[in-house]
Amino acid sequence: MFEYVGIVGFGVMGTQIAQFLAQNGIKVVAIDLNEEKLKIGMETIRNGRFGIQKLVEKGKISKEQAEEIISRIKTSSSYEDLKGVELVIEAVFEDLELKRKVLAKVSEVVGEVVIGSNTSSISITKLGSAVKDPEKFLGIHFFNPAQIQRLVEIVKGLITSEETVLKVKNWLLKLGKVPIVVKDSPGFTTTRLGLILGKEAMLMLQEGIASPQEIDIAMMLGYGFAMGPIEIGDLVGLDTRLRIFEAMYEMTKDPKWAPPKLLVQLVDAGYLGDPTIKPGSKGGVYEFYGQERATKVLKRLGLR
Ligand SMILES: NC(=O)c1ccc[n+]([C@@H]2O[C@H](COP(=O)([O-])OP(=O)(O)OC[C@H]3O[C@@H](n4cnc5c(N)ncnc54)[C@H](O)[C@@H]3O)[C@@H](O)[C@H]2O)c1
Repeated sequence: MFEYVGIVGFGVMGTQIAQFLAQNGIKVVAIDLNEEKLKIGMETIRNGRFGIQKLVEKGKISKEQAEEIISRIKTSSSYEDLKGVELVIEAVFEDLELKRKVLAKVSEVVGEVVIGSNTSSISITKLGSAVKDPEKFLGIHFFNPAQIQRLVEIVKGLITSEETVLKVKNWLLKLGKVPIVVKDSPGFTTTRLGLILGKEAMLMLQEGIASPQEIDIAMMLGYGFAMGPIEIGDLVGLDTRLRIFEAMYEMTKDPKWAPPKLLVQLVDAGYLGDPTIKPGSKGGVYEFYGQERATKVLKRLGLR
């Protein structure tokens, strides 16, 4: 269906989505601001925590297959190189104005091909008004790590056509994903629920009620979560989490989406999330509190 895909924004999600597609035989051209960012992105795909080298080490693919996967991913700092793609997935910072600017530029280059945004929260209808054909614009919300997580939340904007939704849904099904289709609303379904849990967890830390490990183990063993809300925040990236809070607050003006003070301070201090996922981060909440991640604790106890 879509055999040649453009990815705009080659950070945590852009690299994961590019790798996932390349592993499934799809050619990718990835765009970011400069060569340095693109180099870091390719290094993540090669040697990162969820990268190709790990698959080779686990015996899941051969060295030759690994090189073949890598060779499907081209990178560029020029939007012009998006020419000829059949689908674009935008994954730049969670910022309405930036995304609108990027999408307008993308749409100028690719014409009327389907364009999806990986936004976690921002109105698809509003973003869609920046592209030439909003009927061919939708939310394609992958989850971290996109190579492994099966869920993709498809978001239908007010103007998105049924045909666009179906095309993307069928393509994702063919790739082994489990898509859900939801209506456009701040935070859709996943972020609206996940973020409020993340906020309460952060407030509990702020108030000194429990440690990161205790909060996460509570949700893992008490509620059957695979990962607790603090560890999820570290995985997502604390800077990205903060941008999502700000976007939610901007859209709704509801104080429940005001970011917790502790989160703002951690980002200001350079704690941008789990350093094995976020290049250049001093650490996440767990590193700041000097604790072992709850998933590791439970694994050690044979409970995972
Ligand atoms: N991190 C997660 O777990 C997660 C999960 C689902 C969705 N998302 C969403 O995905 C999007 C990207 O998040 P991320 O975590 O990958 O962020 P990130 O900060 O890791 O990466 C964003 C990338 O966009 C690039 N960029 C910024 N401006 C650009 C421009 N004008 N042109 C091209 N590239 C540009 C940056 O250089 C950076 O590499 C956001 O909308 C976020 O809400 C994130």
